[in-house]
Amino acid sequence: MAELEKMRLQKAMAEAGVASRRKSEELIAGGHVLVNGKVVKEMGVKVDHRDKIEVDGVPIHDEKKRYILMYKPRGVISAVKDDKDRKVITDLLEDDFRERVYPVGRLDYDTSGLILLTNDGDFANRLMHPKYHVEKTYIAKIQGTLAVEDIKRLEHGMKLKDYKTSPAKVTVMSKDTKKGTSIVKLVIHEGHNHQVKNMFAAVGHPVNKLSREKYGFLTLDGLVSGKYRDLSRIEVAKLKEKK
Ligand code: URA
Repeated sequence: MAELEKMRLQKAMAEAGVASRRKSEELIAGGHVLVNGKVVKEMGVKVDHRDKIEVDGVPIHDEKKRYILMYKPRGVISAVKDDKDRKVITDLLEDDFRERVYPVGRLDYDTSGLILLTNDGDFANRLMHPKYHVEKTYIAKIQGTLAVEDIKRLEHGMKLKDYKTSPAKVTVMSKDTKKGTSIVKLVIHEGHNHQVKNMFAAVGHPVNKLSREKYGFLTLDGLVSGKYRDLSRIEVAKLKEKK
């Protein structure tokens, strides 16, 4: 928050990376938010940097920015909460992890691999914007073997239900003719819901298993499934400078 700039409480919360503005309004209405030690439930309140704002007892401006690279296992939702009470990605953080991080984009419940978590809203929005073209590398186990025509369609960009994919890089890594499956590497820079599965399904080769091995220049090296590490300052700076 800029010094002495008064702004609405929900905006200050959103800028601090607590939650979206709408979610912040819900937190306020639900009595979760204290301003200078007093619960504030009404919406019009304005605050500046001198006000002490706490959400469920945690001061919002004390939150250090965190940039986490996690190796997501299968069977975990990439969200901070789930209606069906399934395990969520933030359940994998150590008990003493204080900051309210959330995933940058998502991986399906049954997809494993590299996912970033942060409490830096600008950073997350930037990386998720298609214009920044972060390359994501997936390894898919698919049914059958790709014909040359299939590879061309995947590579050139293809019409899916409501959008056309950008050109992709496709590498067939191996084929198991006995089991009738193949392992294929696919590199794309978009992030539509279920995009990889939909692309392979569209060429008639459904995905049996999917993992994300790389996100831009970041890899899973040194991590085992379910574990995470902080990005280095250099890695964060490199991601931030991405145009
Ligand atoms: N594409 C998919 O189909 N699923 C993912 O989890 C990620 C990309």
